[in-house]
Amino acid sequence: MSGARHLYVHVPFCSQRCDYCDFVSLAGRRDRHTAYVEALLTELELERDLLDLELETVYLGGGTPTFLEPNALRTLLEGLPGASELTVEANPETVTPALAAALVEARVNRVSLGAQSFQPHLLELLGRRAGPDDVRRAVESLRRAGVDNISLDLLYGIPGQSRADLDADLHEALALEPEHLSCYELEAKPGTRFTRAHGAELAEQADSLEDHLERIVERLTASGYRWYETANFARIEEGRDLRSRHNLSYWYGHDYLGIGIGAVSTLGISRRRNAASLPRYLAALERGERPPRETEALDEATKLRERLMLGLRLDEPVALAGVEAVLDRGALARLSDLGLVESNGESITLSRRGRLLGGAVSAELIVWPGDLRAA
Ligand SMILES: C[S@@+](CC[C@H](N)C(=O)[O-])C[C@H]1O[C@@H](n2cnc3c(N)ncnc32)[C@H](O)[C@@H]1O
Ligand code: SF4
Repeated sequence: MSGARHLYVHVPFCSQRCDYCDFVSLAGRRDRHTAYVEALLTELELERDLLDLELETVYLGGGTPTFLEPNALRTLLEGLPGASELTVEANPETVTPALAAALVEARVNRVSLGAQSFQPHLLELLGRRAGPDDVRRAVESLRRAGVDNISLDLLYGIPGQSRADLDADLHEALALEPEHLSCYELEAKPGTRFTRAHGAELAEQADSLEDHLERIVERLTASGYRWYETANFARIEEGRDLRSRHNLSYWYGHDYLGIGIGAVSTLGISRRRNAASLPRYLAALERGERPPRETEALDEATKLRERLMLGLRLDEPVALAGVEAVLDRGALARLSDLGLVESNGESITLSRRGRLLGGAVSAELIVWPGDLRAA
């Protein structure tokens, strides 16, 4: 059997912990950066057999990979296998001309920048370090170094964000001519300080979020971007497919190996998640052992449900053959009548309206365990 062609590498360190974020991240810890990179490379060596000889994508995510001590980042990039698409996530304030040059030298050909917003009052509310000028400077440094595939992350649904703020964010983002944009609805992550402080406001504005997404879709598609996934847009360019190949591998349900603390891997019928504890991770790998992790066996129906849920996020049809066992035919007929789903009998896609409503429509199409609906 051939191995996974996609590798995710988690770098948890950040200059600070943002109140709204629940990704596995740790503020500072500069004294552990080198040890962590050594541990990552040891884990990679231990799992090498699970990977194909040739990788399609490597994604260095976080956390803030570009917050790593420069020597540790260089060692990590040198130790990673080559891939057609090598993405690094970066916070704008960490991107200097020297860092941009180092990334290019290390074969990085895609950078995903967490801009979030260009409005100072919203960045302040989010507690972000980078201001709008840091984002512009970061893009300029990356362009000068030769990076020709830049993605910007934007958040919408920030408490107090007006339509005019959103329009201004889209305008500023488009002015930087990114190849790709990810526009995420700000989620109230349970247990975060942000949710304790702003949870009620977030809940109150829930109704306006569909309108926000619709504005985003209208503006970006009118500006030459393909709305290829619920939250993702790729510039349409002759001869280049600028969709994130790494993230597509998740949505298509392909195998991927994840290394680092909290990293998830999906390999055939096995899903495993490394423990989020840095000390336990370092201790295991210093002994040359695999990190502590949990493994879950994915049964056939779970895989099919994931294929439908994830596949319907895309603007491409999902073949019905194979997923019929978890498809609710009654719901398909009902949602088709409502104009939320389109099907030609062989495949299905969500209509534009269905896509704007997001996961709720896809969930409705699926027969879940314990469901009394007929399959
Ligand atoms: C894991 S972060 C890593 C990127 C980088 N450290 C940064 O902060 O820019 C990736 C993206 O997740 C998104 N994100 C983080 N917290 C979120 C939340 N509570 N709701 C929605 N999106 C979130 C942000 O847009 C962020 O750019
Ligand atoms: S949003 Fe980014 S910088 Fe902030 S804590 Fe999360 S990963 Fe770190």
